[in-house]
Amino acid sequence: MHPHLDTILFHETTILSRLDVLAAQLMSDYVGKELSVVLVLHGGLFFAADLLRRLHLPLRIHSLEVSSYHGTASSGSVTFKQSTLPEVQGRHVLLIDDILDTGRTLSVIRQRLLDECAPASLRTCVLLKKRRAREVEVQADYVGFEIDDEFVVGYGLDYEGEYRNLPLIGTLKREFIHMGA
Ligand code: IMP
Ligand code: MG
Repeated sequence: MHPHLDTILFHETTILSRLDVLAAQLMSDYVGKELSVVLVLHGGLFFAADLLRRLHLPLRIHSLEVSSYHGTASSGSVTFKQSTLPEVQGRHVLLIDDILDTGRTLSVIRQRLLDECAPASLRTCVLLKKRRAREVEVQADYVGFEIDDEFVVGYGLDYEGEYRNLPLIGTLKREFIHMGA
C-alpha cells in the first residue's frame, strides 16, 4: 500500500470485476448503435481505458479537459481547456468521468454537448458517485460504485495532480493534505 494512503476503498481486482459488469450492460444497451465516447481528462483516463477495452462494440473516442477542483474542494466553476467540442453530431454519446460529486462538471459538459453538438443521444457514466446532495441535479446513467462523501485518490483521481496512477482507490492520511488547500 502507498505510504500516503489511510484506507483502501477498492482494490484493482474489485474495480476490474465491476467493469466487467458495466461493460456487459453497455454492450447490451448499445448493440447496433454508433457510439462516441467523450472522456473527461484526466480523471476518467484509467477508468475509460479499462472499461472501453471490455466493450466489444465499434466506437470512437474523444476527450475534453476541464478543471473544477482546487485541493480537496470544488471551486464552483468548470473551465474548459480547449475551444472546440468533439464532433459527435448524430452519434450516441457516452460521457465518461471519474466521479460525480457536486454534479457541476457533468452537468455543464452534458448541457454544452446537447446544445452545441446535436448528438442522437447522450448518457453519462462515472466510476464513483458520492452519497451527498448534488449542488446541480444531474443523472449518472452508469455508475461503478457509490461512496461516502469523502475525498479519494487513485485510479485516475488526483490530489493536486498526484496519485492518479495508483491502481486502487483510497483516502489520504491527513498529514498529506495541506491545510487551506
Ligand atoms: P463535481 O463537478 O463537483 O461533480 O466534481 C467532479 C470533478 O471533481 C471530478 O471530475 C474530479 O476531477 C473532481 N473530484 C470530485 N471529488 C473528488 C475526489 O474525491 N477526489 C479527487 N477528485 C475529485
Ligand atoms: Mg476530474
